Amino acid sequence: MTLPSKVRQVVLAARPAGKVAASDFRLETVDAPALGEGEIMTRTLWLSVDPYMRLSLGEGGQALGSLMNGGTVSEVVASSNPAFKVGDIVEGRTGWRDYAVSNGQGMTRVDPSLGPITTALGVLGMPGLTAHTGMVPVGKVKAEDTVVVSSAGGAVGSIAGQIGKAVGARVVGIAGGAKKCAEVEALGFDACVDYQAADFAAKLKAACPNGVDLYFDNVGAAVSQVVFQQLNLEARVSVCGFIGWSDLSDAAPGPNQLPALYKTIVMKRLRITGFTGANKAADAMQQLAGWVKDGKIAHPERVYEGLDQAPQAFADMLGGRAGTGKVVIRVGPA
Ligand SMILES: NC(=O)c1ccc[n+]([C@@H]2O[C@H](COP(=O)([O-])OP(=O)(O)OC[C@H]3O[C@@H](n4cnc5c(N)ncnc54)[C@H](OP(=O)(O)O)[C@@H]3O)[C@@H](O)[C@H]2O)c1
Repeated sequence: MTLPSKVRQVVLAARPAGKVAASDFRLETVDAPALGEGEIMTRTLWLSVDPYMRLSLGEGGQALGSLMNGGTVSEVVASSNPAFKVGDIVEGRTGWRDYAVSNGQGMTRVDPSLGPITTALGVLGMPGLTAHTGMVPVGKVKAEDTVVVSSAGGAVGSIAGQIGKAVGARVVGIAGGAKKCAEVEALGFDACVDYQAADFAAKLKAACPNGVDLYFDNVGAAVSQVVFQQLNLEARVSVCGFIGWSDLSDAAPGPNQLPALYKTIVMKRLRITGFTGANKAADAMQQLAGWVKDGKIAHPERVYEGLDQAPQAFADMLGGRAGTGKVVIRVGPA
C-alpha cells in the first residue's frame, strides 16, 4: 500500500464553556510523520469517544491546538518493529486522526475470534472490563442482590447491568428519558427509571421494593443523592465515575449535601469503593467473552461515519443524545 503524505486529525480549538460542543474542535490536515526505526504506522479503522477525554479539556489541561486523545482500533500498514507485521489489527490510544506513527508501546493485538473488532473499544475493551471490575471484584455482585446502575444506557453501565443479570441479580437501571429507558429494559434490565422525571425517587422505590444492595455509580450528583436514600444496611457502592459533575454545570442547587451523605454512610454501615481501570485479570476477559458468546450480554453500538464526525459524536455521547451502548466512529474502510 502507498503510505499517505498527509494525515487528517482533530485538535482542541476552544476550551468548552460547560457542555462540550462540536465547535470546540477543529479538523486539520498535516504532513504525515516519517516512519523511524522500531516504529509502526497504523491506519485508523475505528475511534472511540469516552467521558475521560472531557477531563483534560479545562484550564491547565491539554494545550489548545493539540491532538485529541482517544482509543482506536487500527490496521498496521508499515512496520520496522519486529513485534508487529503489516496487516495486524491493533488497539491503542493513537488519537483522533486517520494515520499514526508510534513505537507500538501500549498497543495490543485484537483477537477477531472473540467478536467484531469494535468490541475491543466496548464490551471486550476498556468500558466492558471496567464494568467487570466494579461489579465482580469490587461490587461482589450476587444472585440475591438488588443492583442499581446509573447511566445504565452508557458503554459501561449497559454492560455492568447485564453482568448483574448474568449472575442472577435483580437489576434496575437509571437513564435519561423514556426512550433510553425502554432501550435499557430491552437489554434485559428488570426495570429502568428516568431520572429526568418529576417522580424519579418514587419510581425508583417502586422498582426496588426490597431496597438496594449494590449501587454501580457512574454519575454522582443529584441522581446519587436519590439512590443513597434507598440503600439497604451494609449496602455496597462501586463508584465508577461522576459524569453528572464532569462539566460542573449540573452541581446540585441548595445546601451542602455532604454532611447528610456522611451520616448515611455511618448509619447504614455502607461499603463505598472507588476504583479505576479495566479488569486485566485473564479470567475477567474469559468470563466476559463467555457471556457475550452465550448471548447473555448484548453490546449495541452507535456508529458515526467519518473522522469529521468525532466532535459531534463526543458531544452527543456526553450529552446523552447518542442513544444506548458504545459510541464509535468509523474512520477508515475495514
Ligand atoms: N473508573 C474507571 O476506571 C472508569 C473507566 C471508564 C469510565 N468511567 C466512568 O464511567 C462512567 C460511564 O462511562 P461511559 O463510557 O459508559 O459513558 P456514558 O455512561 O455513556 O456517559 C454518557 C452518559 O452520561 C449520562 N449523563 C450525562 N450527564 C448526566 C447527568 N448530569 N446526570 C445523569 N446522567 C448524565 C448521559 O446519559 P443519559 O442519557 O442517561 O442522561 C450520557 O449519555 C463515566 O462517569 C466515566 O467517566 C470510569
